[in-house]
Amino acid sequence: MTRFANRTRRSASIPRRLVSEGKLHLLPVYALMRTSDLGREGIENSGSFRFADHIYRNAPSGRYGVGQLLDAVLLRMRSARSLRNRFFHARREIVRAAGRVPEGGELRALSVPCGIARDLVEGARAIRARHPHVFARATFQGLDLDAEPLALSRGLAADEERFSFRQGDALDPASYPAPLDVVVSTGLGEFLDDETLVRFYRTVHGALRPGGVFATSATDTDRLSVYLMRELAELEAYYRTSEQATALLARAGFRDIHAVADDVGLQTLLVARRDDSQGGEDR
Ligand SMILES: C[S@@+](CC[C@H](N)C(=O)[O-])C[C@H]1O[C@@H](n2cnc3c(N)ncnc32)[C@H](O)[C@@H]1O
Repeated sequence: MTRFANRTRRSASIPRRLVSEGKLHLLPVYALMRTSDLGREGIENSGSFRFADHIYRNAPSGRYGVGQLLDAVLLRMRSARSLRNRFFHARREIVRAAGRVPEGGELRALSVPCGIARDLVEGARAIRARHPHVFARATFQGLDLDAEPLALSRGLAADEERFSFRQGDALDPASYPAPLDVVVSTGLGEFLDDETLVRFYRTVHGALRPGGVFATSATDTDRLSVYLMRELAELEAYYRTSEQATALLARAGFRDIHAVADDVGLQTLLVARRDDSQGGEDR
């Protein structure tokens, strides 16, 4: 059965584990974190689509007043601001792809795994406003293993006919509605080891039409957040530098790879093109 790569929590009870490991000083931090909606979602469901979407929406909420205040503080942390940048990146690249569509051409866009597909829905709205002729011939598709975010995405897209959301494994080429002009992916690569990530990148490469664009991101370590997420939420992720992420995309067959650091400095924002003229894939 396909595994949810992002569900990394292992212990049934975090406080019981903290006690058994003698980390009693973290118990009050744990209790405080649970008052914030972001903290509680992180603790209960480690790297969930709700956790990511809460950061993207950037609207503090929590319990007992203190929870909302703490949520606001967490949403302003470097790691949260940087994660939000990957959402802006994905949304921007969807809109950019529309700007490259030739007269009378169509746009086929995919977000994978889409989670709550805010990048796709907001990107599509911007395309409708800026490139209405492209919007009229576009399809916006979301792919995720979990039926729940797919249902939430349908709601967010208000069941607009240009959108479709399908359940499937991001590592299975048969899940993809190929050929695609633009694929965006945030929040999966961080949960895959290098070999599995190259497999995922190859799958995306194979689903793009020649000249199609892949926008993704890689997260570098922020010691405080990594410590808190590991201890309180059992979030285990693969952190990568710009060079490491670029090398993995190149191994998967992408040749025209642009990597830039976000303004916080923890996120690499990547854009890679399928360029069949150069060949040389490592298959
Ligand atoms: C952290 S969320 C990221 C979603 C979204 N792209 C974002 O940035 O918010 C991770 C998503 O990956 C999905 N997922 C995990 N493993 C998957 C797999 N093998 N195939 C497809 N989706 C998967 C989960 O269901 C979840 O919605």
